[in-house]
Amino acid sequence: MHVFVTGGTGLIGSAVVAELLGHGHTVLALARSDASALAVKSAGAEPLRGDLADLTAVRAGAAQADGVIHLAFSNDFSSADAVARSVAEESAALAALGEELIGSDRPLVTVSGTPWVPGRVSTEADPLPTDGPVGGRGRTVTAILGLASRGVRSTAVRMPRTVHNEGKGGFAGLLTEIARRTGVSGYPGDGTQRWPAVHALDAAVLFRLALELAPAGTSWHAVADEGDAVRDIATVIGRRLDLPVEAVPQETYGPLGPIFATDQPSSSARTREALGWEPTHPSLLADLENIQA
Ligand SMILES: NC(=O)c1ccc[n+]([C@@H]2O[C@H](COP(=O)([O-])OP(=O)(O)OC[C@H]3O[C@@H](n4cnc5c(N)ncnc54)[C@H](OP(=O)(O)O)[C@@H]3O)[C@@H](O)[C@H]2O)c1
Repeated sequence: MHVFVTGGTGLIGSAVVAELLGHGHTVLALARSDASALAVKSAGAEPLRGDLADLTAVRAGAAQADGVIHLAFSNDFSSADAVARSVAEESAALAALGEELIGSDRPLVTVSGTPWVPGRVSTEADPLPTDGPVGGRGRTVTAILGLASRGVRSTAVRMPRTVHNEGKGGFAGLLTEIARRTGVSGYPGDGTQRWPAVHALDAAVLFRLALELAPAGTSWHAVADEGDAVRDIATVIGRRLDLPVEAVPQETYGPLGPIFATDQPSSSARTREALGWEPTHPSLLADLENIQA
């Protein structure tokens, strides 16, 4: 397939582009800067200049592709306003991608997040949360899945809290950045809350399988580790950086504080069984050993 990818230069997207190219697909990737266009070309894909706010470019990318994988997101969690702006920008871009594909039966694979369900491990059958700071993303993805009835093979690959590679990425990556800045490897609450995780190279395989195989309107979990206790994550970070490991107030994490404090283990049993996906790369706690002081 000729695949239009947004976010193809990111931690997950660069792994997805390599996975697609390694399995006989060709890639057209949205690139918002000269540096990103160069990175796309070096990876062996073709850049399409534009950013998520440029809906003409976004539509043009989808129009010339056999399928779309959407991963771009500004990931600015510095304030509630910044998060709201990023969510609105992504929502408009995804709506444009979906409209372009209506009636074509072409695949639109969007990134999403694993839900959390009090008292148990979440599954692919659980609905996405539609409130809280990133609830708008849940509403947008739900609308995209609804395009299944209008001739779009829409599917969502839900990410756990940490998608990692070489010890970097996701919520664990944010904990590492804050530890470097503050001199304390902190965690909110009592640290027994669990976050699920996956290696970016394993997540990339699932994006390809979803593009190739997933029926319209379906959701999948890219979960390798069902849940690591946040205190265990902070303990590895503290040891690697030679910093004390301590409980810190939830407010340390800004708009993400309540999400950081939530127990949110998640399962991928149905994804493994239905799509034959099997993660093979290091777990989060093993990968965090790559952190350098
Ligand atoms: N990493 C995780 O642990 C994790 C966990 C759950 C969900 N996710 C989601 O997975 C997706 C990808 O995450 P990631 O970790 O790979 O992110 P990342 O490394 O920060 O990469 C973001 C990608 O989006 C592009 N981008 C950002 N804003 C853009 C804009 N306005 N217009 C065009 N392109 C834009 C970036 O382009 P440049 O290279 O030009 O900056 C980059 O290619 C995001 O939706 C993220 O929320 C990630």
